Amino acid sequence: MNPVEKQLYWSERYLKNQAGWDCGAITPPIKDYIDQLTDKSISILIPGCGSGHEAEYLWMLGFRNVQLLDFAPEALALFSERVKDFPKDQLHCTNFFEHQGKYDLVLEQTLFCAINPKDREKYAKKMADLIKPTGKLVGVLFNREFEGGPPFGGSIAEYQQIFQAEFSSVFIEPCYNSIKPREGSEVFIKMGDPT
Ligand SMILES: C[S@@+](CC[C@H](N)C(=O)[O-])C[C@H]1O[C@@H](n2cnc3c(N)ncnc32)[C@H](O)[C@@H]1O
Repeated sequence: MNPVEKQLYWSERYLKNQAGWDCGAITPPIKDYIDQLTDKSISILIPGCGSGHEAEYLWMLGFRNVQLLDFAPEALALFSERVKDFPKDQLHCTNFFEHQGKYDLVLEQTLFCAINPKDREKYAKKMADLIKPTGKLVGVLFNREFEGGPPFGGSIAEYQQIFQAEFSSVFIEPCYNSIKPREGSEVFIKMGDPT
């Protein structure tokens, strides 16, 4: 088993203060997407949420049906320390692959690159299960390779193949608004019509 499949691996990264993926704020590609949403009653899942900057932003805007999921309790604790009035029953300390639910929107921010690459088809299938027929998977993926991993990189061609198997509508485009360290190495994704 690859260590990234174990909750302990991620808990240790948080405990040792080695969460270098945490940008300290919501990133512009996801923020810009959220900013054009008008219906604040939609159900939103953020799996592999880490310290939950996207959720904090959504909460601040008045979105209330927001569910956070991470199997590292330390990650959820970091979020709770900042957003004290967020309902605890909307924090799910569980494995993404075991979560059940149906959502209008699922946000992807560095969960895909954190899972074992052998599980990518499983990830796409699980996302298709979690998304309502009218719902969407939206977020960012790396469009580059890394030595070792996590993060585990990939390419547009690979993502197209993986997601086309589960979604009829697949949009993958290079980001124009990445944060500086990720400039030129991210794609924005929007997947809909789960099959
Ligand atoms: C690279 S971090 C990204 C965290 C956050 N999205 C961010 O951008 O700051 C990956 C996160 O996914 C969580 N994670 C990895 N595999 C998971 C799984 N199978 N189920 C639930 N959480 C998982 C880890 O605990 C970690 O918090």
